[in-house]
Amino acid sequence: MGSGMVDDLDMLRASIEAAIAEAADLRALDAVRVSALGKSGEVTGLLKTLGALPPEERRARGAQVNALKLEVERALDSRRTTLEAFALDAKLAAERMDVTLPPRPHPPTGPESGSIHPISRTMEELIALFGAMGFRVAEGPDIEGDWHNFSALNIPDHHPARQDHDTFYLTPPEPGGRRPVLRTHTSPVQIRTMLEEEPPIRVIVPGRTWRADHDATHSPMFHQVEGLVIGRDIHMGHLKGTLVDFLRAFFGIADLPVRFRSSYFPFTEPSMEVDIGWSRRTGELGQGGDWLEILGSGMVHPKVLANAGIDPKVWQGFAFGMGIERITMLKHGIPDLRPFYEADLRWLRHYATSPLSPFTLHDAA
Ligand code: DAH
Repeated sequence: MGSGMVDDLDMLRASIEAAIAEAADLRALDAVRVSALGKSGEVTGLLKTLGALPPEERRARGAQVNALKLEVERALDSRRTTLEAFALDAKLAAERMDVTLPPRPHPPTGPESGSIHPISRTMEELIALFGAMGFRVAEGPDIEGDWHNFSALNIPDHHPARQDHDTFYLTPPEPGGRRPVLRTHTSPVQIRTMLEEEPPIRVIVPGRTWRADHDATHSPMFHQVEGLVIGRDIHMGHLKGTLVDFLRAFFGIADLPVRFRSSYFPFTEPSMEVDIGWSRRTGELGQGGDWLEILGSGMVHPKVLANAGIDPKVWQGFAFGMGIERITMLKHGIPDLRPFYEADLRWLRHYATSPLSPFTLHDAA
């Protein structure tokens, strides 16, 4: 009889294990548990029959039924672990949150998407182009002292640039003192940089400037960029090479004619104005045989170096300054200066640049 009884245990084990394997969720698994191990379950039923067996059979049979019970419990546990993991996966999948958002549609340029104003764009270009030549950006205050804006730059008291009708003066902090001024150029940042830093120096200074002027090509507030290079052996060849390279890259014309014409500025000696070739008739840059003045430059005056605490017997350098609106108007064929500050959306749509196309040196090639 023994082997026959083992057979029925084997069949029961197989049928319970099949039911466990088929249980698709925790509920179904619990139903299998109840039908096997519950009060009136199949395995429980077998355990109850043990008491009626003669003692010598009961031991062997009892061990087999208890082993079956243990196996069923283990199989239930293992399936429960699997089903719990499934349930967690399903819950996570159901509660999954998509944190990505499709990009908003935007026009390639124009104020609807936000756009880079041509002044800002030119500043980015200046910073990229001079940055590639080793220049860093320096800044100074918009309200300057008389000394930084004029005297330290060797501009004498009687110079026309100091006249009231050209320059916005503020009330002096002390009665009888010199009046502060809305800086009339970015050149005072030359002085500030030299006072703050040991040479060698290589900076550009893009920034706001003010003069009492207002017409189609002048605004009371406008922008300039200053350049300053100080070193032991800096000479006019460096000045010319730097500016020719810059102008050709900025205007994107590899053979742009550039002319250096002697001039006068109080803060440079010798001084030069720089012209580029263009056609007066068509406004086209690079050809046409006419010359257009574009910037001022020169070797930094020894008095200016000394005023800023730099020994002119050891150090020398060059400087330059130009109008940002002016070079922007020339580059893009913008005829009138006033719309730069009018926030006219039609104008911006035409001249502003997409923030998604930042300036790179490739654009200058
Ligand atoms: N500061 C001059 C101006 O506003 C421009 C200028 C000319 C700057 C010559 C310079 C320079 O640094 O060397 O008109």
